[in-house]
Amino acid sequence: MDLYEYQARDLFEKYEVPVLAGIIADTPEEAKAAAEKLGGVVVVKAQVKVGGRGKAGGVKVAKTPEDAYEAAKAILGLDIKGHVVKRVMVAAGAQIEKEFYFSVLLDRANRSYLSLCSVEGGMEIEQLAVEKPDALAKIEVDPLTGIDAAKALEIAKAGGFDDELAPKVADVFVKLYNVYKGEGATLVEVNPLIQDAAGNIVALDGKVSLDDNATEVRHPEHEELEDKDAADPLEAKAKASGLNYVKLDGQVGIIGNGAGLVMSTLDVVAYAGENHGGVKPANFLDIGGGASATVMAAGLDVILGDEQVKSVFVNVFGGITSCVAVAEGIVKALEILGDTATKPLVVRLDGNQVEEGRAILAAANNPLVTLAAGMDEGADKAAELANA
Ligand SMILES: Nc1ncnc2c1ncn2[C@@H]1O[C@H](COP(=O)(O)OP(=O)(O)O)[C@@H](O)[C@H]1O
Ligand SMILES: [Mg+2]
Repeated sequence: MDLYEYQARDLFEKYEVPVLAGIIADTPEEAKAAAEKLGGVVVVKAQVKVGGRGKAGGVKVAKTPEDAYEAAKAILGLDIKGHVVKRVMVAAGAQIEKEFYFSVLLDRANRSYLSLCSVEGGMEIEQLAVEKPDALAKIEVDPLTGIDAAKALEIAKAGGFDDELAPKVADVFVKLYNVYKGEGATLVEVNPLIQDAAGNIVALDGKVSLDDNATEVRHPEHEELEDKDAADPLEAKAKASGLNYVKLDGQVGIIGNGAGLVMSTLDVVAYAGENHGGVKPANFLDIGGGASATVMAAGLDVILGDEQVKSVFVNVFGGITSCVAVAEGIVKALEILGDTATKPLVVRLDGNQVEEGRAILAAANNPLVTLAAGMDEGADKAAELANA
């Protein structure tokens, strides 16, 4: 889960990373009130989960509360790279002397952590990496020891900080690492980290990605950071039922067991769709090992709730869960859904107790269900029905 800048700012504050005061506002009036409360020069900042807000007109300096009102009015509703601004943060204005870059992230390829650092901040990191690769230090961080004072100093020196500045920023790096470690993050990035006119080091922007796998057990409080409004309603519904569902943009609903089989099913359906008006898979849905009637019903319910869906392809390989359980699951699911199930279902079963499973579906004789002998045949039938 990526956080908004204001959420990152709050986490930083909790770990004593130096940040400036910030107040969120959903309307120009609230922005004006926030500016009055903060006093002095403020900066009105779009809260969207995408970088480059400054360049896109999403960060504006306001000298008076009236200016803050106007700035918020201009920024709210702005589309920044496909993200519409619904909220701004009114932040105290900093007097920037120098801008730096720092991040620590999970380095999956090397099964390690990595810190990136540069005394030359202010521009996008991607741009810095291309234009001045030598100015960007990449330092591996051992997850067992993390970033302690000595490591932080090593990172600062490698990033080009001089002897006077290095210890000052190193102190902040340690605190930022504490955020990374303490919150179960996969990324903590500050761009820019600045030195202000008074010589203080301040994190002026913050980007934090939290590991969703840490939420359930270690960080239940992260639940509150979730952006429920922005989540796709079908994905939210699926999540509430504990389903592994990703909405896509096609017409053929997909249910399968095992992520690999579902991925392959998406491919064969997309391929089959080329012969049927270009229909495409509508979703990824892995119902996992225990395909009980309730899970099947919940899955079908989510998929049938997608207005774009015209047909559904159920592609299950019976392993630990036998095809009998899956077939019974489908029959019961259709009973549970009753009149709400109106779209044709193509079912391909294979593996453990396949004959018995097929017999159950044949006996149920539900007019919505078509049995397919193989995966390609099923994909073709489902695509044809979606295009009908
Ligand atoms: N509170 C602030 N005071 C003064 N300048 C700011 C403040 N926040 C941001 N800026 C300036 O705006 C630029 C862009 O803001 P930033 O928060 O980094 O957004 P983004 O990275 O999305 O463009 C910064 O590099 C900095 O120069
Ligand atoms: Mg930035």
